[in-house]
Amino acid sequence: METDASVPSGLAAPQRVLLIIAGGIAAYKALELIRRLRERDIAVRCVLTAAGAEFVTPLSVAALSGERVYRDLFSLTEESEMGHIRLSREADLVVVAPATADLMAKLANGHADDLASTALLATDKPVLLAPAMNVEMWRHPATQRNLARLKDDGVRVIGPESGDLACGEVGAGRMAEPHDIAAAVGFLLAGGEPLLAGRHALVTSGPTREAVDPVRFISNRSSGKQGHAIAAALARFGATTTLVAGPTALGDPPGVRTVHVESAQEMAAACEAAMPADIAVCAAAVADWQLRAVAARKIKKRGAAPAFDLVETPDILATVSRPGPRRPRLVVGFAAETGDLIAEATAKRRRKGCDWILANDVAATPIFGADTTTVHLITATGAEAWPRMSKIALAERLARRIAAALAPAAAPSPA
Ligand SMILES: Cc1cc2nc3c(=O)[nH]c(=O)nc-3n(C[C@H](O)[C@H](O)[C@H](O)COP(=O)(O)O)c2cc1C
Repeated sequence: METDASVPSGLAAPQRVLLIIAGGIAAYKALELIRRLRERDIAVRCVLTAAGAEFVTPLSVAALSGERVYRDLFSLTEESEMGHIRLSREADLVVVAPATADLMAKLANGHADDLASTALLATDKPVLLAPAMNVEMWRHPATQRNLARLKDDGVRVIGPESGDLACGEVGAGRMAEPHDIAAAVGFLLAGGEPLLAGRHALVTSGPTREAVDPVRFISNRSSGKQGHAIAAALARFGATTTLVAGPTALGDPPGVRTVHVESAQEMAAACEAAMPADIAVCAAAVADWQLRAVAARKIKKRGAAPAFDLVETPDILATVSRPGPRRPRLVVGFAAETGDLIAEATAKRRRKGCDWILANDVAATPIFGADTTTVHLITATGAEAWPRMSKIALAERLARRIAAALAPAAAPSPA
């Protein structure tokens, strides 16, 4: 067999990230980030700042990345093997995780007094920062000034998220989760086009809680992982995204306006307030019933067990799907079924009036709280089996499908 010498016969070279690990407590999460990136077949070469090496050892970083770790601008061996300019140029993307207040200040002001800051200044590749710091450090006008300048310079930023911080305080400053950073890296390496720029996406996520009395409620097992991942993916694709979230243990996704609600009634009102939207993805597991009357005082455990008088909660998916000028162009619902998955999800799509349904077989595999899922996409034209994948990957795939359906060249009615 003849071969064409001009056509490369081997596999394409893996994409490469230069990961700079700076000196914050979140540096330990950089170790998981390396694993997440390598799971995606992304080669990772690491630079550890002097402060970073106080938090994670070069040995751990080298073992996980499978490459030597670079630390010293003036090391003769490092400079002869891999000059600092080459280090920053050989990568397709430079990621700083955690990005300390200090390193952000250096980059915003063009300092280059160690290997990390020099590589950041010398690179001709996109830069993604994942800031992590104490809430007051994050809020400080100097940090916010540096952040604004960095964004102006075209630097991409993911997070930080709000929640409990390692320092014991609560607020914004927690580094974005490694799987979210890895997804953002995948997106940027894939070209990172803002395919949904100019669109408003409404996403619901998590369970709802229907009060029984001041201390009890009815709820379900939804973790919110899928809905939150979808909101994050749509935001990464450039959509202005509103997430209406029931109670979950998750932080707010980066770049998303998150409205926290508790009951189905509150979720319905928040969705109504967030309209109009171009896209609605109803991933929340909204309770089907609420109590007709919530007891004003705690129900005492005396005598017979109370009989609950239940009434249906508002049907958010059906309401959002209702034809009219405010209906989003594309409405996506979710169905968790334990019977005939395709038949029940297909019937639900028609009954609710939405465009697509992502159907989960919750009897076959545990979906609630898991990081992976298996779905069928039900559209007007049939059912499509998607392979088992992480909820993050599913979110990316769905966001891409939504972008394709809403692209100007696409058919007017998404299928
Ligand atoms: C225990 C401890 C935790 C720290 N955590 C953070 C942090 O989360 N974020 C941050 O910006 N700085 C943090 N710092 C301060 C940085 O380590 C310090 O500013 C250092 O100079 C950063 O250097 P680098 O940016 O070169 O890595 C912490 C310091 C200590 C001692």
